[in-house]
Amino acid sequence: MTNKKIKLAVVFGTRPEAIKLAPVIQQLSHDPQFQVVSIVTAQHRQMLDQVLNAFRIRPQHDLGIMTPNQTLAGIVSQSVEALDRLFKRVQPGGVLVQGDTATTFVASLAAFYNRISVGHVEAGLRTGDRGQPFPEEMNRKLTSALADWHFAPTPSARENLLAEGVDPATIFVTGNTVIDAFQMALAARRNGQGISVPQELASKRLILVTMHRRENQGAPMRSICLGLRDIVKRFADVAVVLPLHLSPSVRSVVQPLLSGVERVWLTEPLDYLDTARMIQLSTLVITDSGGIQEEAPSLGKPVLVLRNKTERPEGVRAGTAQLVGTSRATIFKAAARLLSDARHYETMASAVNPYGD
Ligand code: UD1
Repeated sequence: MTNKKIKLAVVFGTRPEAIKLAPVIQQLSHDPQFQVVSIVTAQHRQMLDQVLNAFRIRPQHDLGIMTPNQTLAGIVSQSVEALDRLFKRVQPGGVLVQGDTATTFVASLAAFYNRISVGHVEAGLRTGDRGQPFPEEMNRKLTSALADWHFAPTPSARENLLAEGVDPATIFVTGNTVIDAFQMALAARRNGQGISVPQELASKRLILVTMHRRENQGAPMRSICLGLRDIVKRFADVAVVLPLHLSPSVRSVVQPLLSGVERVWLTEPLDYLDTARMIQLSTLVITDSGGIQEEAPSLGKPVLVLRNKTERPEGVRAGTAQLVGTSRATIFKAAARLLSDARHYETMASAVNPYGD
């Protein structure tokens, strides 16, 4: 009897996909049933490489497609051709993708064209609004239409898929793999060198802030920055730590409004291990990121979500997260309440993480 391994191509392109697939790649690599072939489109370069280094992942194939000021159509057209050629050469028995980026969708499409089965990790997230987040809501729906196996992180993600007519036998509720990645990162940092917060901020209550979403770029991001300025002005014992996304559309708004502002620390993107550590050091987190809103409750950190609609309603229902949108006044009010009302803070901090353990 031959014992042929299943060749599984794991395809990803951006920082969050790499983080959430790292524990999956690790697990599959230890499983004798599988031969894992890691393929990166490298839709992101520096921010992806930071994660690959942190988790010691060495992709077998790197398409290196990122260009300055790239467009969505550019990412998709370059990746679909390159993946099509690669799948024909590598001949995987299955393709695994994660999340909702351009890479996620296009890898599923290229696999479908080559009649290769697709597994989708973090399947079934929906806001119900195709403009929010843009274009991720559509990427998710298109990926669900193409996928053969749907790994839903929560029961409500499963419900979303069932409502769209997905065969229940192909849906598996798994928890969110970000929790595994986060625990790996916290454990890895324990004996190593960590991030050092500037001395003048070290004794302050820290707020970790991240933002990058396309629908927040421009005026909404300006309004968020003004809200952050209001917070540090009102609370002299509070400092904001803001690792800047490398996207020029983010930097051109955030830098003019926040660089040089007292008790606002604008840093280059932190690697994943330092991000985990920063969450640990923070009093609260303000973000439009999906992953950070899933991670922070593991450490009992309240999250204010810079979005009007979320595909992650579980955190809001559990009480660990609050949707604050992008209005300057609303952001200030919600943060001020957490910073000055200990009972309210404790209620949000003690809720259970709905994304798994
Ligand atoms: C993409 C994903 C989004 C994900 C985000 C995580 C899509 C449609 N969106 O959005 O779901 O939450 O990544 O960050 O796929 N850049 C660099 N260096 C890097 C990374 C980005 O210079 O390491 C620049 C790129 O050249 C580009 C810009 O940042 O000009 C935006 O990157 P892009 O991948 O096009 O989209 P994101 O908005 O980052």
